[in-house]
Amino acid sequence: MENTNTRVIKVNSLKPEKKAIIEGAELIKKGGLVAFPTETVYGLGANGLDPKAVAKLFTAKGRPQDNPLILHVYSIEQVRELVEDISEEAERLMRIFWPGPLTLLFKRGNKIPEIITAGLDTVAIRMPNNPIALELIKASGVPIAAPSANTSGKPSPTMANHVREDLWGKVNLIIDGGSTGVGLESTVLDLTGNKPIILRPGGITLENLQKIIPNVEEDLSIIKDDKKIVPKSPGQKYRHYAPKAEMLLFTGEVDALVNGISRQAKELIQQGKKVGIMATDETVGRYEEGTIISLGSRKNKETIAHNLFNTLRLLDDAKVDIILCEGMEMSGIGTAIMNRLKKASSGNIKMV
Ligand code: TXA
Ligand code: MG
Repeated sequence: MENTNTRVIKVNSLKPEKKAIIEGAELIKKGGLVAFPTETVYGLGANGLDPKAVAKLFTAKGRPQDNPLILHVYSIEQVRELVEDISEEAERLMRIFWPGPLTLLFKRGNKIPEIITAGLDTVAIRMPNNPIALELIKASGVPIAAPSANTSGKPSPTMANHVREDLWGKVNLIIDGGSTGVGLESTVLDLTGNKPIILRPGGITLENLQKIIPNVEEDLSIIKDDKKIVPKSPGQKYRHYAPKAEMLLFTGEVDALVNGISRQAKELIQQGKKVGIMATDETVGRYEEGTIISLGSRKNKETIAHNLFNTLRLLDDAKVDIILCEGMEMSGIGTAIMNRLKKASSGNIKMV
């Protein structure tokens, strides 16, 4: 399916040009597909109330039909028309964290097409913190359904070029607003059960949420590396965020990581393999062989999150056979970083 004429428009993400926004909104209203930046990753947008338009999203991404989508809104008011009711807790979280990288699950209202929720009785909604995204949603006059704008399974796009690589000829418009801020997808929080549960860790951390809702918990599939635990969020069960290369994630103390990865790299290189190493500023100078890239400083995990998906794509471009990656501490945004790394490596984890 490579028959759509794709256009790319560069837009100032702080002060988006009206013309580009109107062009994007017209396409959304007509049932087209528009990729746009959010503060997390690029989204691939369609009119969330138009099942035919939403069906095109699944085809363009090659996304399994049983994986529900997030609706993007520009105001809290817009949520009221889409859900059955808004709890006091949800209201508070929206006021504190929106616009921002927090997706909330609500009981689904009857206006929402089945295809959005993959038949579930809950719907995921968020308000992105990016002027281009907000103005596009507002001008469209509808909630915009937007999965990450990558081919299903590949690392999520943090730059317009990543969208181009994956979706050229499959979408009508790519709005290029530069690189995204957070670099990892939003936190998905389920508020429809007895307790608030984080289904996908992201930009808003457990620690952030605990300050407002102390009883919040993480889904077991996030905490445990047990493959038998089925995640509650359908999207979390697939191989995901994955580079073409095989990937091996190392966990342990920093010195042990450097030693373990160096030894493994040496062995693999002797076998004739091309090895990529995802290091950190603190360790990058200690590796001797391989294609070595630092994700950033261990003292600033936000930078590591920001660089993660682009680094996976860079190592693929470098045509490495295998990527050896340093693990991080599971606190703050470290939990989301480790969640993506574990999925990218298909659970290929080595404790050193
Ligand atoms: O940051 C983000 O959330 C980005 C930007 C574009 O907003 N979007 C994004 O969408 O990551 P996507 O489709 O790649 O991931 C949505 C995740 C999936 O894991 C999906 O299973 C989960 O949200 N999800 C959506 N609706 C759900 C529901 N009703 N119940 C459980 N999980 C749901
Ligand atoms: Mg995705």
